[in-house]
Amino acid sequence: MASPDVLARVTALRQELERYNYAYYVLDQQIVPDAEYDRLFRELQALEAEYPEFVTLDSPTRRVGGKQLVGFEVVHHAVPMLSIRTETDTEASGAQAFDARVRRELGLGANDPPVEYAAELKFDGLAINLRYEHGLLLQATTRGDGETGEDVTRNILKVHSIPLRLNTGSPPVVLEVRGEVFMRRDDFERYNAKQREAGKPTLVNPRNGAAGSIRQLDPAMAAQRPLSFFTYGLGEVQGWKNAPVTHGAALDALEKLGMPVCGERITGLGAAALIAFHDDIAARRDSLPFDIDGVVYKVNRFELQRELGFVTREPRWAVAHKYPAQEQLTTLLGIDIQVGRTGALTPVARLAPVFVGGVTVTNATLHNQDEIDRKDVRVGDTVIVRRAGDVIPEVVAAVIERRPDPAPPRFDILQAYPACPECGSHVVRLEGESAARCTGGLYCPAQRKQALLHFAGRRAMDIEGLGDKLVDQLVERSLVHTPAEVYELSLDTLAGLERMAEKSATNLIAAIGTSKTTTLARFIFALGIRNVGETTAKDLSQHFGSLDKLIAATEAGLLAVRDVGPIVAQSIIQFFAEPHNLEVVNKLRAAGVHWTENTGMQQSSGILAGKTLVLTGSLPTLTRDAAKAKIEAAGGKVAGSVSKKTDYVVAGEEAGSKLAKAQELGVPVLDEPGLLALLAPNNHNEQHRLDL
Ligand code: IVH
Repeated sequence: MASPDVLARVTALRQELERYNYAYYVLDQQIVPDAEYDRLFRELQALEAEYPEFVTLDSPTRRVGGKQLVGFEVVHHAVPMLSIRTETDTEASGAQAFDARVRRELGLGANDPPVEYAAELKFDGLAINLRYEHGLLLQATTRGDGETGEDVTRNILKVHSIPLRLNTGSPPVVLEVRGEVFMRRDDFERYNAKQREAGKPTLVNPRNGAAGSIRQLDPAMAAQRPLSFFTYGLGEVQGWKNAPVTHGAALDALEKLGMPVCGERITGLGAAALIAFHDDIAARRDSLPFDIDGVVYKVNRFELQRELGFVTREPRWAVAHKYPAQEQLTTLLGIDIQVGRTGALTPVARLAPVFVGGVTVTNATLHNQDEIDRKDVRVGDTVIVRRAGDVIPEVVAAVIERRPDPAPPRFDILQAYPACPECGSHVVRLEGESAARCTGGLYCPAQRKQALLHFAGRRAMDIEGLGDKLVDQLVERSLVHTPAEVYELSLDTLAGLERMAEKSATNLIAAIGTSKTTTLARFIFALGIRNVGETTAKDLSQHFGSLDKLIAATEAGLLAVRDVGPIVAQSIIQFFAEPHNLEVVNKLRAAGVHWTENTGMQQSSGILAGKTLVLTGSLPTLTRDAAKAKIEAAGGKVAGSVSKKTDYVVAGEEAGSKLAKAQELGVPVLDEPGLLALLAPNNHNEQHRLDL
């Protein structure tokens, strides 16, 4: 290739990849299949290897590889990175105190207009300064002591939402963007679940996950931990045309430049706006996708910020207003065992009561034996308890320095509980499983209780009023053995139970009656088949349309359902192979539990089941997503690249290399009418008849 052509191609590839990257990491939208992204990425890598003169600092390839050979280099901050005063009062009055202070310092009287503020979240991670010169990311540093930090550029490159180049044709000469690197809760949970499964150490909390990854010397390690970034301010700025004059406008401008900025922020007048923001976020704190430890209030106008200045290392124009902590220390009093719906024995920490994440916690999960071993948690230890979001409280670590002397013994589930504490059945730990399990099945009252609670749950049969206490009594008094017996309960029986007034018994009977009219998806979910959650239940219902078809399904038939793999398929087959379970299902139907059935997608699933199709170019009427949905609804898979295993290539206008590849490999090529014909009803009826 001639040089100008290479340069043009390399530039085009970078722009395209950066666009996909931004969509994926900042906007949360995947607009190309992974395979296509990889292909473009490799093409760029190959060109850069061949023509090193075209390597640039904003190339997405800069994010891969790289070794930090020695320690981090120390960097002097052009503008010190300050800390922020914390308003210790967790009540709304914290905002009033801040406003009163600001007004006093500005010499404002009672009759002067309210001050304009910006309010945003206090992210819980690691503060980072990103230095862009002429629009290019040159250096990323930690806060350090505020005067000097460490150069962590290589690790920061692994945070994909941080742009390598600012999105503007006329970038400021120097623009330092400050913000927080953090880990989302779902990324944290997923990472820990994976580590737990692999028997590897887990992260204590998202903050340590973020801070630990960035301070890792090995960028490859950092790359494995999914990190995010939010911008909250500026450092050194030089040559920024039409530079914003308020904090709020600065964040808007940074967002336009491609920086990730959190949407949860406001500007408003006076303490009232701050209080409203504080309370709004407090109410939604648990449902945010990441941890915060409070909110931050800032005087909005930079001019006023300058006027207010600093005391020691803290600006007078900003304050952090905290929420109750999500981690606390307490004592581990004992380890109890809870038997779950599937018989798993879960160790539960009994704790000295402690106020954490807004509630008093006395129990927290220890997950399983491996986790106890890894964290080396022992009865009598001082432990860190964490409660964040709607997740159940968890013991994250033992404080070994505070361990009693002599050290208490290690805790071993199988040794402590050779028999199930609920039913006396054997406890086993199967090869490759982290859980110890009771072998009692539905003989075990604990498993029966959990099965009933699950059955009656809001997302299952939704029987309002059939909660914990009642299920305990029903099982303990042997009134209910299987979910089917719920429908045999009489008003008299219920009214005779503890804490059951006539009125609530009547209501419950009514709720049980109402629950008989349900949907197939709810019913399947309610059965409590192992590995079949709500989403899978919906997929199964949609696919089969009728319970009997599901019961009769073969492994191959089950595998044709979206997202059903061999483990789920086996669980379903095993469940319906058990005569007891079929009996319960039949009793439920006999009791009048019903739903509307349909023919499902089973016939059409036969047509493209097991077939792999590749889409290329634009089709005359169908969007890419629509074509994909149709193929998947017919049981087919859509792949990103053509191989010998591809069954059909569906090609539209401007089809490129994939079409050529198909022709080279002799893979049949269809146009849109061809695809539709393949999916057409008369075609599939024929196919269906052949199946019979
Ligand atoms: S502003 C001069 N805004 O809190 C003010 N800081 O104690 C500088 N932080 O090290 C900070 N979210 O890591 C600011 N929205 C936010 C923040 C925030 C988290 C962290 C930051 C800083 C610490 C200050």
